[in-house]
Amino acid sequence: MKPFHMSPTLMTGHIQIDTEHEHLLVLLNQFDRLLKTNDDEGCAATLTELTEALENHLINEENILKGHRYPGVAKHIEQHEAAKNAFLELVKESRQNGYGLNFSDKLIAILADDLITADLDFKIYLEKMAHKG
Ligand SMILES: [Fe+2]
Ligand SMILES: [Fe+2]
Repeated sequence: MKPFHMSPTLMTGHIQIDTEHEHLLVLLNQFDRLLKTNDDEGCAATLTELTEALENHLINEENILKGHRYPGVAKHIEQHEAAKNAFLELVKESRQNGYGLNFSDKLIAILADDLITADLDFKIYLEKMAHKG
């Protein structure tokens, strides 16, 4: 996989949320680098760190959205749950069977496509709230 970074189009404009997204991608790229050098211990440790960072991020983001009374919060939380379960399932499977082919790409699909890109749904809402003061 090529290193995956935050791009301006993926920014929500909320500093904490964007910083946490960036951190998830840093860990993802770190994992992929370790995978390429067959550093199994490093991979396992990074995956544990990534799992914790993801779980914390989802909780933080849900609290931010609730705090701003985002109307789509229930749907967004449902989507978090589905993506988190897919992520945890992938990690669990890798603990049993090792990292299969395209493992990093599968992680990207969940983190970047299902989670970070989906956050653009609330971008405009948060921008409006920020301008109201
Ligand atoms: Fe997010
Ligand atoms: Fe989200």
